[in-house]
Amino acid sequence: MSKPLAASTHSRNDQGALMSQIITGTPLEGRVAVVTGASSGIGEATAERLAQLGAKVALLARRKDRLEAAAERIAGGGGAALALPTDVTDRAAVLAAADRVTADLGPVDLVFANAGVQLISQIGDLKVEDWSAQIDLNIKGVMNTIEAFVRSLELVAAEGRPADLITTSSIAATRVLEKFSVYSGTKAYLSHLTRLLRTELGRKMVRVSTVEPGMVDTELPDHVTDPDATRLMADLLRQIDCLQSEDVAETVAFIASVPRHVNLTEITILPTAQAV
Ligand SMILES: NC(=O)c1ccc[n+]([C@@H]2O[C@H](COP(=O)([O-])OP(=O)(O)OC[C@H]3O[C@@H](n4cnc5c(N)ncnc54)[C@H](OP(=O)(O)O)[C@@H]3O)[C@@H](O)[C@H]2O)c1
Repeated sequence: MSKPLAASTHSRNDQGALMSQIITGTPLEGRVAVVTGASSGIGEATAERLAQLGAKVALLARRKDRLEAAAERIAGGGGAALALPTDVTDRAAVLAAADRVTADLGPVDLVFANAGVQLISQIGDLKVEDWSAQIDLNIKGVMNTIEAFVRSLELVAAEGRPADLITTSSIAATRVLEKFSVYSGTKAYLSHLTRLLRTELGRKMVRVSTVEPGMVDTELPDHVTDPDATRLMADLLRQIDCLQSEDVAETVAFIASVPRHVNLTEITILPTAQAV
């Protein structure tokens, strides 16, 4: 059992049972990871877990204070972390961050393109700024991240080492949910992108994966402006034993820890009690 890092800010479920206690040892020793959306929720938990398992981790998101606090926790637990405040919708900023990561930590072999936003509303409400925000971050932000790191992944793979491109999609990619049109569209893009990228990157031994979580207890619903949708999500969070960010983090860590010839491509992870 690996030693946990200093106390994290994440909530625990009722049983205190976290999937983050399953993987043992340091299977990610020697790996260099980049996590986008690392200032909260799934990204923050994943950055911490990858570091616990031995990876050096670059944390990208916009909130500098949150990134630095997470990096300090990682360093306090004996890990290596680099906080790089970056807006991933800014292509030049992501390219600059990639240069910094390579210079400070070495060639990147694990990319978790996770930053995303969910702004659900009825299409007739014409919340076009919310549409753009989701497309710009959930799709273009991921493409900017891929642009910045795919060469590194290919080079590492050509040297015979594991290389992973992992995205965060959602069950919304496949479910038909009212008001979710644009968000679901962005996540369907990511799930299908995974299948398509594998045709090119798989033969170069770069693994491509996506996780499709159901309800995870994070800040994600806090940004929703539609009051009905906010209530729906708050109710669901109250009613069922939702996933914690650590559960998804452990899944991402597992994807990266399996032997190099094994590509877990699309993983749906739901709270057991979530019916839809
Ligand atoms: N929570 C769920 O139930 C659930 C279910 C399925 C899928 N997901 C997906 O999981 C991913 C992570 O979300 P979460 O649930 O962990 O919510 P979260 O806590 O709100 O995390 C979102 C992260 O994205 C970052 N971000 C937002 N805009 C950004 C930008 N322009 N540039 C860089 N980073 C940016 C945020 O940090 P800053 O604000 O500091 O930039 C934050 O770190 C998202 O892709 C989401 O769609 C979540």
